[in-house]
Amino acid sequence: MSRIFSGVQPTNNLHLGNYLGAIKNWVELAAQPKNDCIFCVVDLHALTVYQEPEILRANILAVAKTYLALGIDPAKSTIFAQSQVKEHVQLGWVLNTIAKMGELERMTQFKDKSAQNKNNINLGLFAYPVLMAADILLYDTNLVPVGEDQKQHVELARDLALRFNKLYGETFVVPESVIKKDGARVMGLDDPSKKMSKSAVSANNYISLMDTPAVARKKIMKAVTDSGAEVKGGADKPALNNLLGIYSLLSGASVKDLEKQYAGKGYGDFKTGLADEVEKFLVNFQNKFNAISDKGIEKVLTEGAGKARQLAVAKINLVKNKIGIL
Ligand code: TYM
Repeated sequence: MSRIFSGVQPTNNLHLGNYLGAIKNWVELAAQPKNDCIFCVVDLHALTVYQEPEILRANILAVAKTYLALGIDPAKSTIFAQSQVKEHVQLGWVLNTIAKMGELERMTQFKDKSAQNKNNINLGLFAYPVLMAADILLYDTNLVPVGEDQKQHVELARDLALRFNKLYGETFVVPESVIKKDGARVMGLDDPSKKMSKSAVSANNYISLMDTPAVARKKIMKAVTDSGAEVKGGADKPALNNLLGIYSLLSGASVKDLEKQYAGKGYGDFKTGLADEVEKFLVNFQNKFNAISDKGIEKVLTEGAGKARQLAVAKINLVKNKIGIL
């Protein structure tokens, strides 16, 4: 049995990068009977940037609904909200005491986020990767499926597990990240040198899973392309590579097949085909999402928290015992 753990912050609507980089891989891992999966809505992490309380509350439910609508089955996988299992914070504190300032200062996400938001470089933002390590280590996680941008954070979780085990004896499983080559870094439609991001200044950067097909089509038609006219990827075609990658992952066709399909045709035809594929995906997703009630998802989260809590309490008791607190 392999334990799988991952999570998404309930900060905005999720986008295609979150799906293709992370949740699509969760669905594949969850389909294998040898895996025992836990998927968390990491609401405490979201607080490192100010959230309107009512919007945050709604977003927590929306992210959990998104997991289901993208194919995670709550009868097989555990789905819960981080704040409902207080052991995350407890273990987070213990790990804070062995995490080094220097290693946290080196985290690229901390550097990027503090540069973007100089007026709110809070302690929570600095300790974000330590809480993430607690999320992972609390459940004896073997594999953490994430996008490329989270690799460094999973490395930190590994380092903290090893450090704790060395100090106090074998306690934590040392986790590994699972990062698929395809989709690991979906880039912005308006700027293929930057990753697709929920916090991008322009909404043309991303395709939200909640975009109407018409809005998504407009964004695709507007997407930056490279010089040249041929639909053929390559090292000097970052924008086209990105669009080809998205098209390939959504349709299941290989990039080579897509290049063949569009040989002799221009970017216009290619983008229309991609927009059709995105439309199919969005309509199917949104129909499933809209069919889930708030009450229904609250029940899923309550049951999930119950299951997660059992594992978390056992682990925290072991940790307390090892470190000598009551
Ligand atoms: P978040 O919400 O920022 O991102 C959620 C997931 O989406 C992936 N992702 C992308 N993948 C490919 N291309 C992109 N443009 C793109 N943008 C985002 C992220 O890599 C991530 O997998 N810190 C985590 C949340 C977290 C977590 C955890 C994850 C908290 N505790 C424990 C795993 C295990 C995060 O980045 O969330």
